[in-house]
Parts: sequence; C-alpha cells; structure tokens
Amino acid sequence: MAQKRYGLLEGKKGIIFGPLDEKSIAWQIALAAYREGARFAISNVKVAFRLGNVEELSRLCGDAPLIACDATNSEELDQTFQEAKKHFGRLDFIVHSIGMSPNVRKRRPYEELNYDWFHKTLDVSAISLHRMIASALKQDALNDGASIVALTYIGAQRTFSTYSDMGDAKALLESIARSFGARLGKRGIRVNTVSQSPTKTTAGSGIEGFDLLYDFADKLSPLGNATAEECADYVVTLLSDLTRKVTMQNLFHDGGFSSMGISEEVLQMLYQDRKESSGK
Ligand SMILES: NC(=O)c1ccc[n+]([C@@H]2O[C@H](COP(=O)([O-])OP(=O)(O)OC[C@H]3O[C@@H](n4cnc5c(N)ncnc54)[C@H](O)[C@@H]3O)[C@@H](O)[C@H]2O)c1
Repeated sequence: MAQKRYGLLEGKKGIIFGPLDEKSIAWQIALAAYREGARFAISNVKVAFRLGNVEELSRLCGDAPLIACDATNSEELDQTFQEAKKHFGRLDFIVHSIGMSPNVRKRRPYEELNYDWFHKTLDVSAISLHRMIASALKQDALNDGASIVALTYIGAQRTFSTYSDMGDAKALLESIARSFGARLGKRGIRVNTVSQSPTKTTAGSGIEGFDLLYDFADKLSPLGNATAEECADYVVTLLSDLTRKVTMQNLFHDGGFSSMGISEEVLQMLYQDRKESSGK
C-alpha cells in the first residue's frame, strides 16, 4: 500500500548522509523525505557509490545530486556543503546515518580492542557528526530553524555484549548532538538523535548474533521492532516544522523496547527452554 503523503517537508532542502542500498535506514529516509516534498543531496563515501545502488536512489528522488564525501575528513565535508549550497542555497536539514566499527566487524572482544580501530569507530560513527555540523556552520550552509538528526542505538545507554565499542561511539554521538543543540538553539536549529530498533541492514547484520538480538528485541517490544520505513516516517516529523521546539533529545523509536523489563513472550521462551533442557 502506498504511504500517505502529508507534504510535511514542502519547500525544504537538505542533505542525507549514509544511504547505501534499499535496506539502509538513510535510503528509506530519502524516499520518505522526497515523498513529503523535500529536495536534497545524497552523500556517502566514494566506494559506497560503487558497492551500493545510490544512483538508483538519486533517480527515485528526482535526480538528487550525489556528493562523494568521507565524513571523517573536514575538507571533504567543507566541499560537500559548498556543493550542496550551489544546488539548493542554505539547507533546512541534515541527516547523519553513518556507523562502522572495525572491532565489531572483526569480532574483537571488548577486553582486547584494537585501539587504532577503536579510534576509527569513534571517528566514523561519532566525531563525524561534530565535523559535519562544524563544517556546515563554517560554510554558512544552514538556515535558521534547520533540523539535524543522527541515527543511534540503545547500546549507548545499556550494554549489548557484541555491540562492543559501538556502544561507546553512540554515547559520544548522543553527547555531541546535545552539545551542539545547546549552542545552536539561539538560531532555532535543533539537533536530535533517533534511537532505532535493530534493523536488517548492512551495518546491522555485521554485528555478531544480530539475528538473535533482532528476535529478542522483537519479542520484548510491545509494538514489535520498528522497520527502516517506519523510522523514516518518524525522522521526517523531526525534519518538519511540527517539531520545532524539540532539541537535544535522544528519541527512542523502538516499539517500546527501551521501557520494557520482561514480556510474556520472552517468559514463554524461557519456560520452553527450561522444559527442553530438563527433558519434560
Ligand atoms: N541497523 C541497525 O540495527 C541500527 C539500529 C540503530 C541505529 N542504527 C544506525 O543507523 C545508521 C545507519 O546504518 P544502517 O543500519 O542503515 O546501515 P548501512 O550500512 O546501510 O549504513 C551505514 C552507512 O555508513 C556509511 N559510512 C561508513 N563510513 C563512512 C564514512 N567515513 N563517511 C561517510 N559515510 C560512511 C556507509 O557507507 C553506509 O552507507 C548508523 O548510524 C547505525 O549505527 C542502525
């Protein structure tokens, strides 16, 4: 069924960092933002343009300009915002949907992190948000009242064993969002993070035991796991004028997971497990 259109982003211009393929959360955000009337540039690292289907996304979003940019490189970010400004003038929104940990990918136990990789995790997954906003300000690329949204995970507040150093990176990301939110409020610029359910994407599936984590979260969440499409609809509201007094928040978009202790479904699973192991 085609999603209803509300026109929430009519006239808004922005940039979306991080779509790789149709599974990506940022891909769905781009489709939803386009549906709601926004025009935007799409950015990712050069290699992602080769590995993913970003050109197809550009076509689906009215030939959205594609800008290659490594978000850990301030010069490239400066050029990216200059280029986006050439297309659209000052921007009304930025979406940061970027994450990567070599330690998680290579299954390093937390006690034995490779510190060069740890730096890389922090640089790609958290400090890139700082660089991005700092660069947008330096290039005078943001309109007053703009909205900045970054994607995060509850591993920032609670420990999920195989999420490893990404939990530390997400805690830093959420802190950077608050720190900039406090400083940009005078211009009406909002900075928030959206804490999304486990989602079957390239980044998500790189986490050891992801399928089990996904099923557990789905059974614990009263509304079930939120999909990438549902996340995109929520993000669109944060980019719109309807949420203009929401800033410095970490907003859970997780079907209720973050407020749960245990659910009937998880208890049933444990009973079943006990029955099987006692042979009854
Ligand atoms: N998938 C999940 O379970 C889940 C849950 C909560 C939050 N998130 C977050 O959502 C965001 C998007 O991830 P996703 O799950 O859609 O996976 P994804 O793999 O589709 O997206 C991650 C993107 O980050 C990009 N990226 C990596 N290094 C980069 C760099 N140096 N510069 C610019 N871009 C770079 C990748 O090319 C990729 O497009 C991430 O912040 C992730 O942590 C994911």
